[in-house]
Amino acid sequence: MKIGVIGLGFVGLTFASVLASKKIPVIGVDYDKSKIAKIQSGEVPFFEPRLDKTLRTALHSGLKVSSSISSVANQCDIIFVTVGTPTLEKGGIDLSMVESAIKEIGRLLKKTKNNPAIIIKSTVIPGTTQKLIAILERESKKKNGEDFGIISNPEFLREGVAIEDTINPHLIVLGGSDNKFMKRLTDFYSNLHPNVQIIKTNPQTAEIIKYANNSFLATKISFINQIATICESIPGANIEQVAKAIGLDPRIGSLFLNAGPGYGGSCLPKDVKAIINFSSKIGADSTLLDAVEEVNRNQVRNIISIIEKMLGRLKGHKITILGLAFKPDTDDIRESVSLKLIELLLREGAKIISHDPKAIENTKSVFGNKIEYTDNISKALRGSECAVIMTSWKEYTGISEKELKLMKKRFIVDTRRLLLGKKLNIKYHAIGMG
Ligand code: UGA
Repeated sequence: MKIGVIGLGFVGLTFASVLASKKIPVIGVDYDKSKIAKIQSGEVPFFEPRLDKTLRTALHSGLKVSSSISSVANQCDIIFVTVGTPTLEKGGIDLSMVESAIKEIGRLLKKTKNNPAIIIKSTVIPGTTQKLIAILERESKKKNGEDFGIISNPEFLREGVAIEDTINPHLIVLGGSDNKFMKRLTDFYSNLHPNVQIIKTNPQTAEIIKYANNSFLATKISFINQIATICESIPGANIEQVAKAIGLDPRIGSLFLNAGPGYGGSCLPKDVKAIINFSSKIGADSTLLDAVEEVNRNQVRNIISIIEKMLGRLKGHKITILGLAFKPDTDDIRESVSLKLIELLLREGAKIISHDPKAIENTKSVFGNKIEYTDNISKALRGSECAVIMTSWKEYTGISEKELKLMKKRFIVDTRRLLLGKKLNIKYHAIGMG
């Protein structure tokens, strides 16, 4: 079985590398030639733990990468489409990359005898796979279910643990008709993950499952953040204990109850926006998800209010931001709440020095010389009047009294409660602690 992967971002490159490292023949494609050159030389174009090693093993085991789709369309039995679907201005998603990949596959299929299963892994709004079938039938002059088969197969991997999640997914969702292509994909996944449950459904249900999953996670986060805000006004209340206690109720579950600065990243914010936008287009109500977004937006304003209570007007004050990446173990700053906070602080005239173990280069491309950057915690704290811990990098749990003494005012806002319970001589505000 030969596998094609179109789009070598987080999902595509991780998936292609894991498969190839297991000696499955894989051709990976990306239109970005400079990215292909990097990958070919064993370099991962972004930071993801373990991916560099897995990629090198994959290349060694025969992973092929290319900027042209033709060999994938002509030779592969299963073609995974993993291109991006970024947010459009009003919250909808841009399907142009998925559509152009499908068009190109269609034009190539017209001239080949190959009968591939084409798998849509990119996150797409419900109804998209049906539209893609029409595009592919039109371009190829061939028939879905006979000459090729399109199946929706949403992805649930998380950044920072992408390799683990690809090797051990908790679930596989397949949306398509019950035909030979579905059988081919089912056999492929059953071999790869013999113990993982496969849920089979139609494409539109598979598509909404992905949005339901991510928007439920976002809802859990906004829920606990709202409770955290309430806790802050109850002297002595402790959000950590609240989360632990309610998490023990099996109907609630303990994960995704860490109160913080709000959810960020390339997926949760985009997907909540997209499902709200989709709901309004089809005339469905989205009151709950509107509130989830609003709570998330308010969270960063709450942080500003906490800093203002301590420092007064922010103009001219030096503030340290600890953590730029939207979560630890990644250099990804997309929709990072940290960057939103910096933007608001700059607007108030504050001076910013920022620290992150991995995401400085990416952040430079957003703020340039409007803020300072350092990868040294002591330098980040020296002369500062307030430090805000935004990302739960493990480095921050070890911040010492000696480092804190370098600050002009020892005031810490800890949105992740990493320093909670430590005996430090500081003024300390932790999110969710009354
Ligand atoms: C998310 C989902 O978790 C994946 O299942 C999904 O496949 C992926 O989106 C996607 O659609 O591609 P990811 O964006 O990597 O994965 O990040 P998460 O681990 O979900 O974290 C998202 C944000 O929520 C981060 O800003 C994180 O700090 C925040 N968060 C998470 C909290 O504030 N509290 C929590 O308890 C958990």
